[in-house]
Amino acid sequence: MKIAPSLLSCDFSIMGQEVERMDRAGADWMHLDVMDGHFVPNLTFGAPVIKAVRRYSNKPFDVHLMISEPLRYIDDFAKAGADIITFHVESDSDIDATIERIRTMGAKPGLVIKPNTPAWVVFPYLEKIDLVLVMTVEPGFGGQSFMENMLPKVRQIREECRRRDIDLLIEADGGIGEATIAACAEAGVDVCVAGTAVFKASNAGEAIAQLKALCGDAE
Ligand code: DX5
Ligand code: ZN
Repeated sequence: MKIAPSLLSCDFSIMGQEVERMDRAGADWMHLDVMDGHFVPNLTFGAPVIKAVRRYSNKPFDVHLMISEPLRYIDDFAKAGADIITFHVESDSDIDATIERIRTMGAKPGLVIKPNTPAWVVFPYLEKIDLVLVMTVEPGFGGQSFMENMLPKVRQIREECRRRDIDLLIEADGGIGEATIAACAEAGVDVCVAGTAVFKASNAGEAIAQLKALCGDAE
């Protein structure tokens, strides 16, 4: 299981050092939540902030775009140093064009589905993307409760990939911590985002190790 700490829960006054702290704590990826106050009812940060903290870690930057028009900003996020760019199927941009733009810019594309969106919506794109992100909370805020009833969608995507012999990663995001991560692993999740569970822990390294251990990963 890969752990991607969500910087949404970091101390923004020292965001670069927070990225560095997560790097040292054993984070596999850095998860960066971009919100536009339109697609979701919250605002966070954009490409210039990601560019500024990029140099604090060499780990993959996993940029989760919760914005209405992702296609307009793909170049900015790729140039800022995003390795993985995920965007919502519920956004207004053309899905194929956005996937293509992410590839052209040298990043890995992924599609995200909100809790009310069924798994089959991403099936036509599975060959074209590297990752599916299944939201396990309504996007917009950290610290919400995990929606266990999203895990059947993870299983459906996993099963469809198996059937069509497609190799992609499944990521889950929202409310993941010690009480919920084992269920994610069991459902077939490869990457878990964790904001509160890692940033609010007294020792981030121990928290990440413990999350992995709960998935049966040896440390
Ligand atoms: C929610 C974000 C998540 C969030 C996770 O819209 O996409 O990445 O920061 O935070 P926790 O782990 O606290 O639910
Ligand atoms: Zn996220």
